[in-house]
Amino acid sequence: MNKIDKLSSVLEKLNKNGVTPDIRDEALDLVKTITPLELSQAEQQLIEKGMKPEDLRHLCDIHMEVLKDELEKLKMKISEGHVLNTLINEHDRILEFLIELDDINMRIQNMNSFNKDRKEFKRLRELSISILDAEKHHQREEDVLFMEMEDREVTGPPRIMRMEHEDLRQKKALLKKYAHDVENMNFDDFKANVDEVSKYIVFNLRDHIFKENYILYPTALETIEENDVWNDMKNRCDDIGYCSFTPNY
Ligand SMILES: [Fe+2]
Ligand SMILES: [Fe+2]
Repeated sequence: MNKIDKLSSVLEKLNKNGVTPDIRDEALDLVKTITPLELSQAEQQLIEKGMKPEDLRHLCDIHMEVLKDELEKLKMKISEGHVLNTLINEHDRILEFLIELDDINMRIQNMNSFNKDRKEFKRLRELSISILDAEKHHQREEDVLFMEMEDREVTGPPRIMRMEHEDLRQKKALLKKYAHDVENMNFDDFKANVDEVSKYIVFNLRDHIFKENYILYPTALETIEENDVWNDMKNRCDDIGYCSFTPNY
């Protein structure tokens, strides 16, 4: 039985009986023998074969459990200053911005009118600029990391990540526009717009970072084997430059 067939049969059992300890262990053992890239390909193939995405739910839960260790394992394999290490550190900073954005948005939703003395509005403007400032991060991913992966015929995940960058870029620009326009907007409209775009960014950017940390970066480390190439990539990253929030690169 190949891995995909094994996955299908475990999934059938999971969907029929729920997650029992035995089946869970069987699934965990199987998922551990599969690389993150193979697992995403297997999930894709199962969907193409007609499996409903919601039937993959149990597998996703187990997948997550395995992935939790994946980032720690990845970090152990790379040193400070490594292209991926810098990108992961930047993700950590961006995730902090997202926690703050969520909080500021909630506070603004509880206000009845605009008051320029409230610090939330200033912080929203600053946050919108910091979040947009991740552009160099995305450029390093696209022009250096994804390009090297695509040269090695890993094309699917980078293509999806590029599309998400483009989509998020527009939403981030919108957030910045609202944050800077509040004085000229009807306050209820402002609140509704900020709520929608903030929630979108918080959810989708988190999800994007998760996919990169747990799937794309480990796959990159697996696919790009030559140290020389990583050193050369580091130089190309230096040429592109870093973000205002990048810690020690
Ligand atoms: Fe990205
Ligand atoms: Fe990223």
